[in-house]
Amino acid sequence: MKVAVLGAAGGIGQALSLLLKTQLPAGSELSLYDIAPVTPGVAVDLSHIPTQVAIKGFAGEDPSPALEGADIVLISAGVARKPGMDRSDLFNINAGIVKNLIEKVAVTCPKACIGIITNPVNTTVPIAAEVLKKAGVYDPAKLFGVTTLDVIRSETFIAEAKGLNPADINLNVIGGHSGVTILPLLSQLDGISFTDEEIAAMTTRIQNAGTEVVEAKAGGGSATLSMGQAAARFCLSLVKAAQGEDVIECAYVDGGSEHAKFFAQPVRLGPQGVAEILPYGEISAFEKAAIDGMLDTLHGDIDKGVEFV
Ligand SMILES: NC(=O)c1ccc[n+]([C@@H]2O[C@H](COP(=O)([O-])OP(=O)(O)OC[C@H]3O[C@@H](n4cnc5c(N)ncnc54)[C@H](O)[C@@H]3O)[C@@H](O)[C@H]2O)c1
Repeated sequence: MKVAVLGAAGGIGQALSLLLKTQLPAGSELSLYDIAPVTPGVAVDLSHIPTQVAIKGFAGEDPSPALEGADIVLISAGVARKPGMDRSDLFNINAGIVKNLIEKVAVTCPKACIGIITNPVNTTVPIAAEVLKKAGVYDPAKLFGVTTLDVIRSETFIAEAKGLNPADINLNVIGGHSGVTILPLLSQLDGISFTDEEIAAMTTRIQNAGTEVVEAKAGGGSATLSMGQAAARFCLSLVKAAQGEDVIECAYVDGGSEHAKFFAQPVRLGPQGVAEILPYGEISAFEKAAIDGMLDTLHGDIDKGVEFV
């Protein structure tokens, strides 16, 4: 498999590239691209790690050489939040960056699975879909908004609160990837019970976890290392699925939901991307109300992306 990381010199891009260099199966290729001139150097640096993963770095205005032959493209190019900003404040800069990069993906590797990390994910994924449609190469099964960070944060916080091993926690986080659109389905956790107050507090903490990092970094950016881990998990799941393993991850995808055109939900992955969009199952009255409460925001975010293109 060849994996291309766009935005590879950034905080997320470097962490993600390191994890992929050490964890992709032997024989894989890693292709790093960023407008930052340091990018070939990042690749040289990583190339000294002794794994059987070939790595090459590309800088400059044109991502095409990095995209040639890519099976998976992960996009974290763009600007990140500073304190006081929410994800939608990033729209003006990041929308254009994602649009331009996807135009190149559409020409150079139109059959690749694409994972969008760049925020606002609720909007950048619809932008990508529209660009791919215009180019006549849109396959909804191959476009993902990467929401895995919401899942790993939930696993961590729940394990901490209940004194459990995070590896034993498995849950769905549905909706979108910002504020009230992030909905962890805490009612579905087997053998773990919460009071109503605990559910409300835990849900809010998971929804605001990104802001927790932005404030702690005090102007130095947003989540990069945990996001690198989350994106690596998602990418490795795509690779495993391509090799025939049965893998389920939550992701923000097109087409499976009664609620919105794009919705994060559990997805069975296969060799061609989405093999099956799975139902998210029984939910509580609190969670039903949370879905109702998020839909105006989510529809607005999606429409904004479609209108942009
Ligand atoms: N999906 C999620 O859960 C999640 C979590 C955290 C952050 N993010 C988002 O990921 C993005 C990146 O965050 P970061 O902390 O790595 O930021 P960063 O500023 O550290 O890195 C961004 C990189 O993108 C590069 N870049 C800018 N324009 C480019 C272009 N046109 N082509 C290629 N590269 C380009 C920059 O040179 C930089 O190296 C932000 O939009 C952030 O909001 C998403």
